[in-house]
Amino acid sequence: MTIQNLQFELFITQDDINKRVEELAKSIQKDYKGKTPTFLIILNGAFMFASDLIKHYQGECRICFMRLSSYRGTRSTGNISTYLEAEQLDNQDIIIVEDIVDTGNSIEYIIQNLKTKNLKSYSIASLFYKPDAYKKPYSIDYIGFKIPDKFIVGYGLDYNGLGRNLPDIYQLKTS
Ligand code: IMP
Ligand code: MG
Repeated sequence: MTIQNLQFELFITQDDINKRVEELAKSIQKDYKGKTPTFLIILNGAFMFASDLIKHYQGECRICFMRLSSYRGTRSTGNISTYLEAEQLDNQDIIIVEDIVDTGNSIEYIIQNLKTKNLKSYSIASLFYKPDAYKKPYSIDYIGFKIPDKFIVGYGLDYNGLGRNLPDIYQLKTS
């Protein structure tokens, strides 16, 4: 499969993603029994994961959104370029919903920002995690898939804005 100048190959099918997302929802459900958590969905990449995750989550919950982006092409720039203030998070149990944790710059930025609010608690759910690229100390509480440090697209994740609509995950082909 080609997007612009790059070649990608099928990596994780929509079936496998669905199964894993359902498992994550169930384990979050167990941990938050008796609580009303707020899913803080990080746009743009996490929109598809978040939508499936909360559909599988059976229990009272709220959702809100935050937008940031640090990628240009296939490399993290380290500079977070866009940010929209999340709404009222005072006294809430927050579950940060990310598409992927790579270097950890974004998650650090989010956590630093949340520290200025009066949260009750926070945890992090990320569909993908690249342990070899991660450089931060924060533990990721709910991980869908640990993957190698290779660029992926699909299921919300993009390459230069393209590929978010693909229902499966594709990985960059390296020659
Ligand atoms: P980090 O700040 O380096 O951890 O990168 C986090 C953000 O970069 C993610 O939320 C994604 O939006 C984007 N990103 C990181 N790795 C990939 C990838 O392999 N494909 C597409 N986007 C990615
Ligand atoms: Mg993201």
